[in-house]
Amino acid sequence: MNFNVGILGATGAVGQKFIRLLHNHPWFTVTMVGASENSAGRPYGTTTQWLEDIEIPTRIAQLTVQPCTPHLFSEVDFVFSGLDSSVAGQIEKSFAQAGIPVVSNAKNYRTDPTVPLMIPEINPDHTALIEQQNFDPQGNGWIVTNPNCVVVPLASTLKPLVDNYSVQEVHVTSMQAISGAGYPGVASLDILGNVDPYIGGEENKVVSEPLKILGSLPNQQVLEEPSLPIHATAVRVPIVDGHILSVAVRLKSEIDAEEIKALYRDWHSPLANHALPSSPESFFQVYDHPHHPQPRLHAWREEGMQIGVGRLRSSLIQPNVLQYITMAHNTVRGAAGGAILNAELLVQQEKLNPSPQ
Ligand SMILES: NC(=O)c1ccc[n+]([C@@H]2O[C@H](COP(=O)([O-])OP(=O)(O)OC[C@H]3O[C@@H](n4cnc5c(N)ncnc54)[C@H](OP(=O)(O)O)[C@@H]3O)[C@@H](O)[C@H]2O)c1
Repeated sequence: MNFNVGILGATGAVGQKFIRLLHNHPWFTVTMVGASENSAGRPYGTTTQWLEDIEIPTRIAQLTVQPCTPHLFSEVDFVFSGLDSSVAGQIEKSFAQAGIPVVSNAKNYRTDPTVPLMIPEINPDHTALIEQQNFDPQGNGWIVTNPNCVVVPLASTLKPLVDNYSVQEVHVTSMQAISGAGYPGVASLDILGNVDPYIGGEENKVVSEPLKILGSLPNQQVLEEPSLPIHATAVRVPIVDGHILSVAVRLKSEIDAEEIKALYRDWHSPLANHALPSSPESFFQVYDHPHHPQPRLHAWREEGMQIGVGRLRSSLIQPNVLQYITMAHNTVRGAAGGAILNAELLVQQEKLNPSPQ
């Protein structure tokens, strides 16, 4: 099984992570790379400000960067998008309309009721929404998205709780790595030895996207979202990779922290029997050590695809409030790796099919 894939926004921080993670991927071969007119027409290896700590794969370095125009990408089976959100809306739509499936990181279509917002271990059935899209009358072109990078650990850790308890309210403060702002991102003088208590546009996503992900699709038609108030504060901290979140969840009744730890430890991933190449062996890692998880020590566990959960306890003053820390690698699980796993799920569900050789 081999798919030829293109990467839109290939020169950016997320685009580079795609290149890194897809190097030697058993199913997906990167054959096209796209970026803005500023980069187009030059070899990927000379036009890209490479940020990864491995060499650019030689074959990719020699690819000529293309403008993100669908007819230039007609040889690919689908594209991944790491496009800047200021252009992703129009470009992704043009690819879907041209019959090229788009597996996107950008925010533009996440709230579209016909576009799945996916964490494959949490809501794999939501891909059914694709059938309702009408970008391409022939049904070949469609868009699937993955969530904001804070939402990935938040929605993932909320899932076992909403499935097993009556969850009343959530408070979350995210401490977000600088790689989440792309390249060159936050000015060094603003973040070195400092904390910035505001990340523009982030909190809206953190309060709304988990509801779509945790929603159910009983008749494969209309997503029914839970009514769950989430209060969010997003803070930028001087970490390179790995967003870490402090979460407080108010349940209806008193909690048993050991019982909830066991829920995460015993949680059965719906992907467990499918052997998808990017699927982690254990989706959740529960840490008992009070100083864990830490971004520097644990963000790359299971190739950056694992969700860490630690400091799991009841509140000192309200026994029905659960508190915990959760962490995920923001540019892997929260971006490129999450999108690659989405594509692998879509292959397994036969929604993505390789073109005949
Ligand atoms: N960083 C994260 O942790 C993270 C996590 C989740 C989601 N995301 C989302 O993923 C997307 C990419 O983020 P990033 O951090 O990789 O951003 P970035 O480093 O700024 O990269 C943006 C990419 O978009 C391309 N681009 C800009 N204008 C274009 C145009 N007019 N036509 C075609 N391509 C254009 C850029 O190409 P040039 O190099 O030629 O300008 C570059 O390849 C964003 O939508 C972001 O919100 C990021």
